[in-house]
Parts: sequence; structure tokens; C-alpha cells
Amino acid sequence: MQFLENYSLRALNTFGIEARARFFTAAANLGELMSALEYASAKNMGLLVLGGGSNILLLGNPDLVVLKNNLQGIEILDESEKLIRLRVGGGVVWHDLVLYAVAKGWGGIENLSLIPGTVGAAPIQNIGAYGTEIKDVFESLEAVNIRTGDTRLFSHADCRFGYRDSIFKREEKGRWMITSVILQLSKSGEVNTSYGDIREVLRSMGVAEPGVADVSRAVIQIRRSKLPDPAEIGNAGSFFKNPEVPEAFFLDLKERFPAIPGYPVGSGAVKIPAGWLIESDGWKGYREGNVGVHSRQALVLVNYGGATGDEVRILASRIQESVEQKYGIKLHPEVNYI
Ligand code: EPU
Repeated sequence: MQFLENYSLRALNTFGIEARARFFTAAANLGELMSALEYASAKNMGLLVLGGGSNILLLGNPDLVVLKNNLQGIEILDESEKLIRLRVGGGVVWHDLVLYAVAKGWGGIENLSLIPGTVGAAPIQNIGAYGTEIKDVFESLEAVNIRTGDTRLFSHADCRFGYRDSIFKREEKGRWMITSVILQLSKSGEVNTSYGDIREVLRSMGVAEPGVADVSRAVIQIRRSKLPDPAEIGNAGSFFKNPEVPEAFFLDLKERFPAIPGYPVGSGAVKIPAGWLIESDGWKGYREGNVGVHSRQALVLVNYGGATGDEVRILASRIQESVEQKYGIKLHPEVNYI
């Protein structure tokens, strides 16, 4: 097992930020994972687990042992007439899992097609799109404590999932490497086409009774039309979370800005699309030097090439200040600053 010094992470973060890890290695099995933990401990250094690098902003050169999760494998645990239970390695590319499930006709993650990143990272921020979140198919996960090497099973309840949130972004942040995830997929063929453009896109594709594969194709088409491909232009998907505000606050805003969209999310709260706030504040398509706001989706900040993490961070905080001044709403990054 090799530990590479001053290793460039540029190809390992979808923002394409140049930053160098003090030490870098990858673990393809539990033995390598343990060796990496021992190495970090012997050097008295912190350890950072990297998945697909699709939800991070590197602000400097991490003075850490950076460990890429390369644990592979998709295993069928058991199946009934209606359900199939899978154990999936934390290093499996999320979209590869989606394609595998879709090809088999197993439903539940087709709305999450083309989300960048790995299976092990998916529960950390409870990835979601087009009316589905991973929590809807999640059963449990296995993780290794990166300081002690102990293994622990986290149940659905243990993960305390919320909107783009889990215990791994809060109390347990930075403490675990997620080695495998157990999901329950459906064999019923039922699909969820309720969100936004999906039905319209299916109609334009000439599909009257959509199956799992059709919905996956529709989602892929929508994402390709709105979201920049990190292989072409550096980005980490939505940079901010969609804020939730009390209903009375929303109604007040609606009087001042009648076009503002809002979706009730229960218990008297309304979710407002951050993309709308940023666009209507004039930032969509804005560019300054190497960084900018994507021209087709204002929630996505982009690196046009050669940007530093700080340049992105400064643009993000200017947007936060500007939106807060205009609407009185503080936007919170969805992306993790490292
Ligand atoms: N909107 C604008 N201008 C924009 C973008 C959005 O006005 O530039 C408004 C429109 O009113 C639109 C609404 O926002 O109807 C919703 O837009 P969209 O369906 O594109 O979704 P989003 O709220 O911008 C969220 C997720 C995405 C996910 C989509 C689809 C968050 C932070 N983002 O974006 O997730 O793909 O819904 O479900 O919740 C990601 O997390 O990286 C991500 C891409």
C-alpha cells in the first residue's frame, strides 16, 4: 500500500481545485483501511475520507492523510416477490449502482440518476433529487471509526436523516468511513414522476406508462440540460441548500416579491428555491475571473479553470450577503468546506 506525499487532489474533487494532500492513499479493502488508520496514527496526523469529491470545497492544502474510499462490490442479501436487499461497497460510484439497479428493473433510486459521488458518501448528506432521497430506500450502513478502527452499524434511525443532512454532518462529522450501505429496492415497477419537469419530459419522449428505466432516462435528460458536467466545468452541484422559513415570513416576502416561489414542507415552514433568490438578485451567469454562477442553474457555482477554493468561497459569501440584504434570508452552503 502506497502513501503518496504532496499528492494533487485536482482530479479527485469535482470543483477541479488544485490542492495537495500531505499524504494520500486509497483503500480497496478493510485491511488497507486499517493500515491507513495506523499510518495516520503513527504520524500523529488527522485523516480525511474522500468519496467522489463531489461535495467539497478545498480551501488549502490538507495537512492530513487523505484516504480515498475504493471499497467495491454489490451483493444481493435476500429478495422477496416485492423487495430486494443489497449491500453496496462505500466506494462504488453512485450512478453505476443506479444503472445496475435500473437494468435489473429494481426501483427506488432511478430519480437519483447521475448524481455524482459514491455510495458511501450518499447517506452523509442524504442525497436527493426529483422527489426522492436516499433515506427512502436506506436500511442501514456499516462504518469504521477512523480513530479507533471499531466497526459500527448505523440503523436508519441512528442516521437522523434530514434535508441534505444526517448525523454524519453534525455530531459524528469526520469520524467515520462508511464501508457499506444496505438498501431496499422495489420490484413492483412503481415510479415517482410527481416532481417538476419529469412528466413533461416523459411525454416529450413519447412514454405513456413509464417504468424505472424511463424515469432514469428522463432524469438524466433534465440534469444534463441544467447542470454543468464536472468533466467539462468544475462544480459541486447545488452550492447552497434551499432555505426554509416560517410561513408568516414567507407571506410577508410574497407581498413584496409576488413572483417568489415557495413549497410548504409541513409544521408551518415553507421551502424557497435558493436558485430563485440568487437569480432574481442578479447573480445568474455572473463571472469574475475564474469563478462564476452557472448560467442555467443559479444554485451552482463553477470553476472556469484555475480557481482556488478561496475564490469560490469569496464569491459564495458575496452572494450570501447580497441575498440576505435583499430578502433577509441567510443561505447555508450544502458543500463542505475543507
Ligand atoms: N430556480 C430559479 N432559478 C434558477 C434555479 C432554480 O428560479 O436558476 C427556481 C425555479 O422556481 C425552479 C425551482 O427553483 O422551479 C426549482 O429548481 P430545480 O428543480 O432545478 O431544483 P433546485 O431547488 O434548484 C434541488 C436540489 C438539486 C436537485 C433538484 C431536483 C437542493 C439544494 N438542490 O435544486 O440537487 O437535483 O432540486 O430535485 O436541494 C444537489 O444537491 O447538488 C442538487 C443538484
